Amino acid sequence: MRISVIGCGYLGAVHASAMAELGHEVVGIDIDAHRVAELAAGRPPFFEPGLPEILTSATASGRLRFSTDMADAAGAEVHFVAVGTPQSPGTDAADLRYVDAAFEALLPHLAEGALVVGKSTVPVGTAARLAARVAQVAPSASVAWNPEFLREGFAVKDTIEPDRLVYGVGDDHAASVLDLVYRAAIEAGTPRIVTDYATAELVKVAANAFLATKISFINAMAEIAEVSGADVTQLADAIGHDARIGRRFLNAGVGFGGGCLPKDIRAFAARAEELGRGDSVGFLREVDAINLRRRQRVVDLAVDALGGSVNERKIAVLGVSFKPDSDDVRDSPALDVAVQLKGLGARVVATDPQGIENARLRHPQLEYSASTRETLLDAELVVLVTEWPEYCALDPAEAGGLVSGRRIIDGRNVLDPRAWRATGWSYLGLGRP
Ligand code: UDX
Repeated sequence: MRISVIGCGYLGAVHASAMAELGHEVVGIDIDAHRVAELAAGRPPFFEPGLPEILTSATASGRLRFSTDMADAAGAEVHFVAVGTPQSPGTDAADLRYVDAAFEALLPHLAEGALVVGKSTVPVGTAARLAARVAQVAPSASVAWNPEFLREGFAVKDTIEPDRLVYGVGDDHAASVLDLVYRAAIEAGTPRIVTDYATAELVKVAANAFLATKISFINAMAEIAEVSGADVTQLADAIGHDARIGRRFLNAGVGFGGGCLPKDIRAFAARAEELGRGDSVGFLREVDAINLRRRQRVVDLAVDALGGSVNERKIAVLGVSFKPDSDDVRDSPALDVAVQLKGLGARVVATDPQGIENARLRHPQLEYSASTRETLLDAELVVLVTEWPEYCALDPAEAGGLVSGRRIIDGRNVLDPRAWRATGWSYLGLGRP
């Protein structure tokens, strides 16, 4: 099929490449000329495992092109809108200006019978509003909402082999067109749920709200463990054996971050308030508050570990990206902790296998090092805040030979406390004795 993907960020660049990989003829549109040039040259503007390979093969095959000109989307039968919906400055609501602008810019280019498919995460009610707008200007075109559940780090796999497909549609025709787009996944037996716009929009925010709640639940248990001497990791293992609960997404630590969960739960709460049902998801405010308290907890532990002040003390921060296998530092708990410690006067050196460049753009005041060794050298305290495999595999004896004080805060509960304590380290986990 002939497809356009409007917006080539984390979501759109992967979606465009994956659609071309599946055999479609794709044009990716973005207003950022530098980004478009990089993508066209086969270079993803961010780190995502597997993306360089499919991007290069798709651009080389001629099935994937990129452009800054919306007119190049004109020939497509299906247009995916994959632009960002960040938090609005000064409020918790989603900022819809990029979605609205993408639809408006696309309208004059819609061919007879084209389908416009929203993939961006939007407040419930947006799709119906945009469908009405499309009907006004291009009556033969239709609108669907097809939320995306991809995880950064697994984005290519999640796009090519999704665990479910959700189509919010206004008519059956839209569903049959999407079936052609996703033929490979459907033939492989991927569950497909066809529903109205409002349900499809809510599926996405409900899924993220549930995941965020699960993480904050276990982090709340970590807080109780901290005042009662219990071990939250064993607690998670034990309750996780109950298949109704499940062990996944029950890792207590410094909490969730990234470009999705934090802003999506805030936007959901804000939208529910607009609809007069703020009380229904009022718990999401609590989920957010618990999450942010864990960052503060790591900072407080650091101050305690250094005897009441971090001023002028060298602290090695392992990790700045919001999770491993990503260079994304948006709302990253790791970077937040580094910035707070720096604000308290510490001599912070932060490292990360992929995230330094993005972190430096946001927080040039921090010192960064690409080398773990150099980061650890002469540190009086080590704070592990992103569980990259190389940090999880650190050897306590070797690391002990580099630092000037054997103190470590394991902000992701990924190290073995016994092994670290056995080599003379003071080990502090979150929610662990
Ligand atoms: C999330 C959703 O998983 C995805 O379905 C949606 O489309 C976008 O948002 P992503 O932001 O890539 O994906 O990250 P995810 O893997 O969900 O992790 C989110 C955050 O939660 C990370 O900061 C991670 O470190 C944290 N987390 C995750 C925990 O603190 N504990 C856990 O047990 C799991």
